Amino acid sequence: MNVHLRIWRQPGPNAPGRLVDYSVEDIDPSQSFLEMLDKLNENLIHEGQEPVAFESDCREGICGNCGLVINGIPHGPKGACTTCEVRMRQFNSGDTITVEPFRAKAFPLIKDLVVNRSAFDRIMGKGGFVAVNTGSAQDANLIPIHKDDAEHAMDAAACIGCGACVAACPNASASLFVGAKVSQFTWLPQGQVERHTRVLKMVKQMDSEGFGDCSNHAECEAACPKEISISNISRMRREYTKAMFAAV
Ligand code: FES
Repeated sequence: MNVHLRIWRQPGPNAPGRLVDYSVEDIDPSQSFLEMLDKLNENLIHEGQEPVAFESDCREGICGNCGLVINGIPHGPKGACTTCEVRMRQFNSGDTITVEPFRAKAFPLIKDLVVNRSAFDRIMGKGGFVAVNTGSAQDANLIPIHKDDAEHAMDAAACIGCGACVAACPNASASLFVGAKVSQFTWLPQGQVERHTRVLKMVKQMDSEGFGDCSNHAECEAACPKEISISNISRMRREYTKAMFAAV
């Protein structure tokens, strides 16, 4: 199959950017979207042109590195998958596909399709961990946890921090990401000691990074490759309110 691509090219953070047209031919439909971009880059390098900068690491939906907006939708139109899990058979030969970076004030563009998502790391650094001594793995297994609570915690912990929620939100809010990260500890006994300080610090950092507020559009949930529920945002808000009262 052959596709036409319109790809956002921008040499640097302060340089002007534009959509540039490319064609890629003889694509195997079983190839991944990123393999198709690899093929494009091989062609560009062969022609002495600058390859397109984009991110990837695991290429199996685990690391969250591969964030692209494909035809206007973070991670593409299939839903519930990351960009690296998108297969070319989801498109038709002859299609024109527009590829852009995740756009948000808190995710400044570095080059072409690569944005800086270290704001998420700084939020995690404020409370996305358990600092109390929980013992070894055997000790953790001795703590009884209701199966429903464990399931809720695991569902929230499925967030891979890719940033699609931010890219999809009209306010560029990080509420789904932070909500998931707060919730995953809230459901577990190991997360109780720092329960209040965690949510206060993470929300404060989220606000200082320039993310917008949540106005319940739910675009984040629709774009999330791990189908994280927006109920985690409600939980974060409840946790925040409780922590504010506990602090006075
Ligand atoms: S490259 Fe790791 S999730 Fe896509």
